[in-house]
Amino acid sequence: MQLFLDTANIEEIKAAARLGVIDGVTTNPSLIAKEKKDHKETIRAICDIVDGPISAEVIALDAEGMITEGRELAKIHENVVVKIPFTPDGLIATNALHEEDISVNMTLIFSPNQALLACKAGARYISPFAGRLEDIGHDGIEVCSQCQDIIGTYDYLTEVIAASIRSTAHVFRCAQEGIDIATIPSSVLMQMMKHPLTDSGIEKFMADWKKSQN
Ligand code: E4P
Repeated sequence: MQLFLDTANIEEIKAAARLGVIDGVTTNPSLIAKEKKDHKETIRAICDIVDGPISAEVIALDAEGMITEGRELAKIHENVVVKIPFTPDGLIATNALHEEDISVNMTLIFSPNQALLACKAGARYISPFAGRLEDIGHDGIEVCSQCQDIIGTYDYLTEVIAASIRSTAHVFRCAQEGIDIATIPSSVLMQMMKHPLTDSGIEKFMADWKKSQN
């Protein structure tokens, strides 16, 4: 299973990359806006830290605009994956960029049927939003799993990125379901490392060691 970090914060990315467990990074316009820095420079800086797929989202909503912007983003670094929202124009742009060998991550996917269309258009990745589905009472991880089943049935080369991950329980369920990738906020990554028995275990080992040194 691959783990991507879902942030545009350079310090968070540096800290997570040092752990050796991060395979890629995803960003979106909200995450970029939060950092108040230049979009392309931020993507370039992320590419210098993590050697893996780095998703950079287009802002344009029309197919031609998405294609032009996608080409520009792809020029930043060979690891850049152009992130395109799932709309009819998004499908056109995904197909056009795919034909130019530019990898696309289709985002804002909320149903297996949308996932199927994204695969057919040539998306390299699809991002079903588990947390936002859960917000409206659906089982978001189940939808990710359904998307992955369709890909497996037809041998599409597309990989599923479970997105909008809100908790360690989400990550665990993704792993149980065999989801290709989960993109997680830094806070969830930190929580994944925590266990009170690890902390108390270290405390006891250190206390016993100190006693033996007297
Ligand atoms: C990543 O690809 C998505 O943009 C992100 O996970 C959305 O997360 P949110 O629903 O917490 O904004």
